[in-house]
Amino acid sequence: MAQLAQLSAAFIEEYPRQSELMQQTRAEGERSGVSGVSAPVASLLTVLAAVSAAQNTVEVGTGSGVSTLALLEGLPEGSALTTIDIDSTREQTAKEAIKAAGFDKTHRVRAITGDAAHVLPRLSENSYDLAFIDADAEHFEHYVYECLALLKTGGLLIVHDALNNGAVASPTARDEVTNSHRSVLNSLREIDDIFVSLVHAGLGLFLVYKR
Ligand SMILES: C[S@@+](CC[C@H](N)C(=O)[O-])C[C@H]1O[C@@H](n2cnc3c(N)ncnc32)[C@H](O)[C@@H]1O
Repeated sequence: MAQLAQLSAAFIEEYPRQSELMQQTRAEGERSGVSGVSAPVASLLTVLAAVSAAQNTVEVGTGSGVSTLALLEGLPEGSALTTIDIDSTREQTAKEAIKAAGFDKTHRVRAITGDAAHVLPRLSENSYDLAFIDADAEHFEHYVYECLALLKTGGLLIVHDALNNGAVASPTARDEVTNSHRSVLNSLREIDDIFVSLVHAGLGLFLVYKR
C-alpha cells in the first residue's frame, strides 16, 4: 500500500506536460534561489484559471514566473493579470518569460516590483475574479485577508504552501508564523459565506471560494 502511494506520487509528479519555456523558467528561478511551483501545481493553476474564466487576476509572489505562465495559459485572452514581487531581478526574468510565451500580446499583464504588503491595499476591492498567493510566509495572514477583500463574489483564492512547509501539521510547531497559518485556516473554515478546501498538492494548496 505504502509502495503504491509512493508510485502514485511519482506518477502524479511526472504526469504534466511542461513546455520547454516553463522548464527553463523554473531552472532560472532555482539559479536565483527561488522555487517555482511544481509541475502538478502549475497544471492545476492552468485548469483553475481556465474554469474561473477570470477577467481580472492578481498574483502575489511572481518569482521567476512559473506560476504566472501557468495562470496565463488558462486565463482567457484579453484578460488582465497583475503580478507582484519584491525582487526586481526575478520580476525581470518573469517579464522575459511572459514575452517569450507571447502572453504580452494576448493578455494585459502588469508586473509590479514592490512589497505586496504595501501594494495589495492600493488595488481595488471587489474587483478580482482570481487571486494566487505564493510569497513570504511572514505575511501569509495579511495576504489572505487582503486578497479576499480584492475578490468579487464568486471569486477564487488559491494559496500555495498553506501549511508553512508542513509545520502547521506538527503539534510541536508553535512559532508565530505557523500559529498565524493555523489561525487563518481554522478561522476561514468557520465562515459560512465561503467554501474552503485544503488540497494535497505541492506544499499544500488552500482554495477559498467567495460566495
Ligand atoms: C516561492 S517564490 C514564488 C514562486 C513563483 N510563484 C513561481 O511559481 O515561480 C516567492 C516569491 O515571493 C517574493 N516575495 C517575498 N516577500 C515578498 C513581499 N513582501 N512582497 C512581494 N513579494 C515577495 C520573493 O521574492 C519570491 O520571488
